[in-house]
Amino acid sequence: MLLSEGSKKTYKSYLLNINSRQYRVVCDANDTLLDIIRGQLKLTGTKRGCDCGQCGVCNVIVNGKVVRACITRMKNVPEHAEILTVEGLGTPDNLHAVQWAFIANNAIQCGFCTPGFIMSAKGLLDKTLSPSREEVRQWFQQHWNACRCTGYKQIVDAVMDAAAVLRGEKEMYEFSAMLKPGEYIWGTNYPRPSDKYKVTGTWDFGDDAGMQLPKDTLYAALVHVDVNHANILNLDITEAEKMPGVVKVVTAKDIYAAGGTNKLFGAQPPQVKGDGWERPILCDKKIFMWGDVVAVVCAESYEEAEAAVPKVKVDLEELPAVMNVEEAIKPDCIEIHPGVPNIYFETHVKKGADAGEIMEQMPYSIEDVFYLQRQPHLVLENDVGFGYWDEDGNLAIQSKHIWIYKAAAFMARGIGLQPSKIRIIQNKAGASFGYKLGITNEAMIAAAVIATGRPVFCRYDTRHHVTYTPKRAPALMRVAMAADANGRITAIDHTSWVDHGPYSEFSPGLVSKLPHYMGSLYGISNVRGTAYGVYTNQKWNTAFRAWGAPQVHTAQEIAVDMLAERVGMDPLEFRYINAIRPGQTFPFGQSPDVFPLAEMVDILRPKYRAAIERAKSGSSEKIKKGVGVAFGVYNSNSAGPDKAYNNIELLPDGGVMLYNTWEEHGQGADIGMVGTAHRALAPLGIAPEKIRLFINDTFRCPDSGPAAASRCQVMVGHAIVDSCNKLLDAMRREDGSFRSYDEMVEEGLPLLYSGSYGCVTKNEKGEIVPCVHTDANGQGMPYACYMYGLFMAEVDVDVSTGKTWVSKMTLIDDVGVINNYGVVDGQMYGGLAQGIGLALQEDFEDPAKYNNLITCGFPYIKDITDDMELIHMETPREFGPYGASGAGELPLTSPHAAIANAIYNACGARVTRLPATKEKVLALLKEKHR
Ligand code: FES
Ligand code: FES
Repeated sequence: MLLSEGSKKTYKSYLLNINSRQYRVVCDANDTLLDIIRGQLKLTGTKRGCDCGQCGVCNVIVNGKVVRACITRMKNVPEHAEILTVEGLGTPDNLHAVQWAFIANNAIQCGFCTPGFIMSAKGLLDKTLSPSREEVRQWFQQHWNACRCTGYKQIVDAVMDAAAVLRGEKEMYEFSAMLKPGEYIWGTNYPRPSDKYKVTGTWDFGDDAGMQLPKDTLYAALVHVDVNHANILNLDITEAEKMPGVVKVVTAKDIYAAGGTNKLFGAQPPQVKGDGWERPILCDKKIFMWGDVVAVVCAESYEEAEAAVPKVKVDLEELPAVMNVEEAIKPDCIEIHPGVPNIYFETHVKKGADAGEIMEQMPYSIEDVFYLQRQPHLVLENDVGFGYWDEDGNLAIQSKHIWIYKAAAFMARGIGLQPSKIRIIQNKAGASFGYKLGITNEAMIAAAVIATGRPVFCRYDTRHHVTYTPKRAPALMRVAMAADANGRITAIDHTSWVDHGPYSEFSPGLVSKLPHYMGSLYGISNVRGTAYGVYTNQKWNTAFRAWGAPQVHTAQEIAVDMLAERVGMDPLEFRYINAIRPGQTFPFGQSPDVFPLAEMVDILRPKYRAAIERAKSGSSEKIKKGVGVAFGVYNSNSAGPDKAYNNIELLPDGGVMLYNTWEEHGQGADIGMVGTAHRALAPLGIAPEKIRLFINDTFRCPDSGPAAASRCQVMVGHAIVDSCNKLLDAMRREDGSFRSYDEMVEEGLPLLYSGSYGCVTKNEKGEIVPCVHTDANGQGMPYACYMYGLFMAEVDVDVSTGKTWVSKMTLIDDVGVINNYGVVDGQMYGGLAQGIGLALQEDFEDPAKYNNLITCGFPYIKDITDDMELIHMETPREFGPYGASGAGELPLTSPHAAIANAIYNACGARVTRLPATKEKVLALLKEKHR
């Protein structure tokens, strides 16, 4: 039968010159250049991020111009175009100057944005070899290069260095030459082992790995329901299953048929009211939040799966939506999980005398209500993963998860398999910042693999990713604080309500952070506090960098400024006299591991005074300048009895292999491991490149716990040292020299050694004891190590519009002895940038509106100051390996509070509910002048 003219699909052939090779590409003229580069030519160095022109990870050069390949239609690509992608620039063994400079300047974290930045930078340096820093920044802004990890500063540093190399003023050096024989990597800027792959686009992320799956792989598209709260009356998949290419539409019925409960669990303790199993894998009775998923369409192609999604029919009975905690806690509010109160968890702290009574006797006191908003993680790599049955009949899931052992445990009952039959492997991840502590796609992929018997790949588009994945939980906090006649803070009383959306998973740990840390840096003797976990129909929540700390520090640090004003003291000096000192304890009764705060103030004082002078002299009628400060603290191990394991194996070439699950999400796990092991194995004199990593596979690696709470350098670091010491002991001869691999084999000695670590601290008698959870009064010794900071923000506020610009951030940090300066600097710059975003523009309130990077307030380079100053105090930690503590959470503990305080200092607008948008600041200014 002949096809009619109208049913013929036609294609166009293009002659293109890509990376100096000629291609004849046949495609639809409406296909994007990214579809061709990645999909057809498999040049996966160019990444797919937002797919809508907002992130620049797909930037390539076409006829000398930097373009975003995801929005460049083939019909607009000229015939014979000269196209350069990252693959045409350099290779891991032969780097281009720009690639080298990115490594040399530690301008890479997760690396997902890196090829796009590098191609943009190449486009700029092809035009000028002497750009100013501002020109580099403007160029990246113009070409939409977004980075969520680095804070941009080190990227601009890299471009300036690359330009110097290309001008012939600087030499590229071999990174191995950074070390002299016998030196450790520890305590240097030595690059991450992954860097040379990230800069050359050869670091395969989940979407890249998904293109290497077997031919019979199915593509999954999720059927989200866009209402906030509803009963499901009927779900009809008949039409969808008839759509071309559709193999199956998976629903909750398939999960039940496979023996699953269709429910997920997330580490809730028994104190949670209800059973903690309230999150369905696929909703079949109720919709609890916007974007909940009712079905997974599995088809032969991504396009066919997507096309069938609208054919799934869902009949709903809409219910009242409970969109904030004020509503949720009203006695007559609808119960989101019928039979379970909306306040599903509460925790308390009680230390010293009754704080309320003490306050009544004090000459100075303040009380106010504070709010930290729901913060979206805004990673550039959308959620992505895949699953398949492995050769031993186990279900394998590869995703971005950052607690892979628990991922298997949390979903096992839900999908109807034993945890031992679920193998989780972490893909290379384009950042997480904590959102991947939650099960996002894993259980749905598992259900689809079980239902179809075929490999299944699933990548969220940006709207689904932003809408569906969990966020930072907002908190509403009432704080009352009092000081005596000398300005000493004597009492704090507080109540907090944490909005955790409809699912309680992990939240008791988060809710407990509020009483743990509220007032923590001031050694306050009399503390009373309560925190509640509350269900709403808002977005579900999970970990986000410094989990709980930004909430606490919003209230604590703004309240401290208010109290300083009431006392009549300068905010920095008020902090100095009140900073926690030896003999004092945190609200939970434990002594800090070190006491660096007063010294931090001493270091900052001259800079602070200079900044105040700058603000005074630089302010005008329209632009008011101000300075604000804030302390920050966070723990470096999970609360309570935290544990980690690592194995090490001696290899035939004298190198070693480390096996563990220190999950990598861009924070620098690889150099963390290599740096620690290189130091521990120093007696063997092993070259860094001979310390190899086999990581993040639950069937091959021991459990090292989550890559969260900045715990890995401490916990996994200790386990690595322990295993290294065991290997050294086995290799050591009586005369102190070491056996070779061959000698170990000849003597029949084991080659593989297991190390472990359980966190410990010191009690009040100075005895070393295991860390334990706090008791009913919130008292105990939950943590081993902490990190501390003093933040200073300098801002300009345009009082005619309310718009704030952060002109400088200064951070004095103490994260113990530093393993790798490049990594720690990067964590600090990146965290400060996220703090600026949190303070001024990031939000996620109405899920119908917050569905892409721009509406969520993503901080681009124009939003982030290039002027960031870091000062590292490195007080050695008794319970950290080689004196190290954690680092990554610290920079997002309280930069936003320093900014809020700076806004007040600049113009008198006291922002207590973040973000400090221009509308909010302007309204406060108007109110003040009314
Ligand atoms: Fe192309 Fe984001 S701009 S993927
Ligand atoms: Fe830029 Fe992760 S390094 S987004």
